[in-house]
Amino acid sequence: MITGKARLAGVIGWPVGHSRSPRLHNHWLAESGIDGAYVPLPVPPGGLAEALRGLVALGFRGANVTVPHKEEAFAIVDRRDAAAEAIGAVNTLVVQDDGTIEGRNTDAHGFFAHLTAAAPQWHAQMPAIVLGAGGAARAVLFALRAAGVPEIRVVNRTLARAEALAAAFGPTIRPLPSWQEALSGLPGPALLVNTTSLGMTGQPPLEIQLDRLPADSIVYDLVYNPLRTDLIASAEARGLATVDGLGMLIHQARAGFAAWFGAEPPPVTADLPDLLLKG
Ligand code: ATR
Repeated sequence: MITGKARLAGVIGWPVGHSRSPRLHNHWLAESGIDGAYVPLPVPPGGLAEALRGLVALGFRGANVTVPHKEEAFAIVDRRDAAAEAIGAVNTLVVQDDGTIEGRNTDAHGFFAHLTAAAPQWHAQMPAIVLGAGGAARAVLFALRAAGVPEIRVVNRTLARAEALAAAFGPTIRPLPSWQEALSGLPGPALLVNTTSLGMTGQPPLEIQLDRLPADSIVYDLVYNPLRTDLIASAEARGLATVDGLGMLIHQARAGFAAWFGAEPPPVTADLPDLLLKG
């Protein structure tokens, strides 16, 4: 039930109709019996600053921010958490009692929480190979660096972007021009993470051969559409542990839910992927 005192939040993006976040949050709200709602908020490019003033004026507790507004949100908010500062993007807004807006980035937390839940054998001494050097890669690097991973090899089509990440995130980051180089000379099991859009429905395939990845390595694909990407399928065929991208979405959402609706969301259940991906 939604009363006049309902707690409100939403997702700001353009387009935003594809976002699965309303399904997820409204499912958790219903399960928890919380008087609240989470709605899609389509905001065209150039309209973010006005939209954020409106968000506060309308009494929203906050919102998620998605493409193309994450970097502009970073610039507009009144204060930022450490993850947002390092990643340079904001995906979660929390309206404070005084009407100011805190910008947070919960992607790194979502990535890491799902990694440790889905692959408990992962440990911080495993070197990591990160494919891609965009915003998602920055969140992954922030999480892995914070965990103390000793070596993170970053492979990107545009090497200069991988080099920029090394300059920003420090000496444990090794920019490399090809996955062939990144997969060679690994002393033992590694964590391979795809942060590129390759393999996503409608995008080109990710062409990589996993035969050089040592046994007991872990393959984590941030792509969740399809849930079982070619990368995940070929890792499984090699007998490697795999982690899919949907769990990151679910885990990054939990922190926002708690901040806006005043309660931890219910535990992650096995029916969530179907609920989020069907239709
Ligand atoms: P996000 O914020 O989701 O990480 P992004 O910043 O646009 O999105 O980054 C997309 C990543 O996918 C980049 O690493 C990009 O490589 P470039 O930096 O060279 O653009 C990678 N990517 C996208 N399409 C690609 C393609 N066809 N081949 C190789 N890499 C691709």
